Amino acid sequence: MDRPMDRQEVAPETLAAQGLGEADPISGGLAPVINLSTNYEQQPDGSYRQGRVYTRADNPTSEHAEQMLAALEGGALDGGCACALFGSGMAAATAVFQSLLPGDHVLVSRVLYWGVRKWLAEFALTWGLDVEFTDTGDLDAVAAAIRPGRTRLLWVETPANPMWEITDLAAVCDLAHPAGVRVAVDNTVATPVLTRPFEFGADLVIHSATKYLNGHGDVLAGAVLAARRDPFWERLRSWRRNAGAMPGAFEAWLLQRGMRTLFLRVHRASQTALEIATRFQRHPALAAVLYPGLPDHPGHEIAARQMRGGFGGMLSIRVAGGAGAAREVLAAVRVFKRATSLGGVESLIEHRRDSEGPSSPVPGDLLRLSIGIEAPADLIADLAAALDKAPSR
Ligand SMILES: Cc1ncc(COP(=O)(O)O)c(C=O)c1O
Repeated sequence: MDRPMDRQEVAPETLAAQGLGEADPISGGLAPVINLSTNYEQQPDGSYRQGRVYTRADNPTSEHAEQMLAALEGGALDGGCACALFGSGMAAATAVFQSLLPGDHVLVSRVLYWGVRKWLAEFALTWGLDVEFTDTGDLDAVAAAIRPGRTRLLWVETPANPMWEITDLAAVCDLAHPAGVRVAVDNTVATPVLTRPFEFGADLVIHSATKYLNGHGDVLAGAVLAARRDPFWERLRSWRRNAGAMPGAFEAWLLQRGMRTLFLRVHRASQTALEIATRFQRHPALAAVLYPGLPDHPGHEIAARQMRGGFGGMLSIRVAGGAGAAREVLAAVRVFKRATSLGGVESLIEHRRDSEGPSSPVPGDLLRLSIGIEAPADLIADLAAALDKAPSR
């Protein structure tokens, strides 16, 4: 007897690899079709065959990618979590802030992706939000910063760009929830392969799908997931529809294809990143290697609890000779690609402060590395050759 695969019984890797495991009902194709239609036919009685009217609100290709990501993030949650794709990670992040109300107090990780900090600095005030940056790695600081009745959102990135500081998700949720504060976690760097924030109590999960989820450096997309389909979720969906923040169907299709290899890519990048961090942690040309997988990283113990199967593919190095020496190391690499962004198959290196601009708080001696899936020995040899020319501590 033909019995379809039970999605509840298989591992997330299996769901990802098989794109949820259902063939296209019309053709039997194992790869999903791409649905580019912008609009849907209305029936004589005024109804729509599947309830969809216009693609700015609903698109089956986006829905497929959303269901995949929800399965990966939602895990065993009853009924699964809700997921909405956006045109970029920034469109996803700002949709969360813009779904708040003027006067709401918002707590944000002090160390976080520069683009979010810049948007908050430029636009949150005019939107009427009261934004406060805090060290979310310091639980006393978080507890002291929460204003019961006024704080509506705690925004956390972990590991956080580009110092890879770790926030204890279960602990901050325990502080936030009794005060009625929603916890939103930017899970771009850990991905659901390593951390599923809902398991630690998070209310919202945000992704730049441009990074690991797609993984091939050829799609701009984002996502917001919610643990519950509550009025805030409906407001967020309404924002996406009415602000026009939906991604194109082609991007959504590429994204579902990228997610099929997510587990392989993230595990490989994590293994190589750990190998590189371990190999270079005492290199005489380096003042520090910042990687949560190293036992002397201040967040290592929490990361070991919160991240499963690896510590991610992102690390930073601080060059002992300072900003000038760091730029020379950057110029000397031959296998690493000099480029911004992260989470793709190619390994990337960048001078983070130069990328962020003059207002950046990032130290000038820091180079950010996004580890890809190349042969680890090639990356190690490349970095060793570039560092051997740099001055020693
Ligand atoms: C952690 C993190 N969140 C959000 C974003 C924004 O995503 P996007 O570039 O897709 O708009 C980025 C981009 O680098 C990121 O690294």
